Amino acid sequence: MAQRFDTKTVHFQAKDVSRNMSKAQPIYQTSAFTFKDLEDMESFYKGDKEYLYSRFGNPNTDDLGKGVAAIEEAEDGVATSSGMSAILAGILAVVKPGEHVIASEDLYGGTYQLLAVELLNLGVEVSFVSFEDKEEIRTAIQSTTKLIYTESVTNPLLRVENLKMVQELAKEFGLITMIDNTFATPFLLQPTKFGADLVIHSATKYIGGHSDVTAGVLVGKKELIEKARVKVVSLGCNLSPFEAWLACRGLKTLSIRMDRQSKNAHSLANALKTNENVTKVYYPTELSSKGNGAMVSIELNSILNIEKFFASLDWVKIAPTLAGVETTVSYPIRTSHRTIPNQIREKLGITNGLVRISVGIEDELDIIETFEAAIRSAK
Ligand SMILES: Cc1ncc(COP(=O)(O)O)c(C=O)c1O
Repeated sequence: MAQRFDTKTVHFQAKDVSRNMSKAQPIYQTSAFTFKDLEDMESFYKGDKEYLYSRFGNPNTDDLGKGVAAIEEAEDGVATSSGMSAILAGILAVVKPGEHVIASEDLYGGTYQLLAVELLNLGVEVSFVSFEDKEEIRTAIQSTTKLIYTESVTNPLLRVENLKMVQELAKEFGLITMIDNTFATPFLLQPTKFGADLVIHSATKYIGGHSDVTAGVLVGKKELIEKARVKVVSLGCNLSPFEAWLACRGLKTLSIRMDRQSKNAHSLANALKTNENVTKVYYPTELSSKGNGAMVSIELNSILNIEKFFASLDWVKIAPTLAGVETTVSYPIRTSHRTIPNQIREKLGITNGLVRISVGIEDELDIIETFEAAIRSAK
């Protein structure tokens, strides 16, 4: 039927553009999908049609979930509104009130808060233990324990988790494992190869790679992802199509970014190890044959003026995030790890002098010289 102007301006996009062989994936910026008739709509519920309402699923969010699943070598994946909601959906897919989780005490502060406060409020008990000691984990296991949770490379001290040991314990006690692989990325490490059941990413970080999107993704065993998808839909933890599209665009360059950023981080870590005003350099040594990641944490000598150091970093910005193509720094005790109790922070080594550096793709000499100059200015 012919349309009048006002109708046409609303309905000009009559076709699914992907049928036009568009080179880039179109953005399905729509809250819902339409149907010819009621029978056609019923076909969604019968499983013959994929999409009904974007909170339930959308081609762009599916691209991200299934794309990350493919590179993580996982059976399935679901995209979420943030890394935090990926963690929440994954945990709620596995544990019920009255059940128990064992988590590493060495975690991103937001995850600690979610597990220690929110999960507890939902009736799920969490024990935080040192994952450097297998016996400490074993001792914490209870009859109600369902899940073991840790990060493959920890934030901010960059300890590489012993995933083989974690998996052995999980197998012995029939527990599910969930690994945050944000810092390592699937370019360097795939926890599923060790047997991990669920893997999460803050796609806000290396998957997106350009600091322009907040997103998460959860991948793993199909039956667990099915359960997690129900949580994502019911809790409204879905990702927007545009954010998913941006994250997918970022994902395409993950390898070249991680390759370059890891090389730069390696050089920076080596240079700072010889600096007399850096008392410790945290940088993994045996993460992967492709590199050891793009994060470097350093502890500055307490004689330095930390405020002056942060103020003297020239083009290196202070940012409470990581993983963009630009080098940035953060101060964990005032940002990511602010909510961690003091005694845990001290035990772990998250001190007043600790600086977390997210190394970018710039010229490595510019990065090294900028940090050396800021340290000199802070004396
Ligand atoms: C290791 C790690 N996991 C999860 C998160 C949470 O991700 P998001 O901020 O995307 O919710 C962060 C955030 O910094 C993180 O560093």
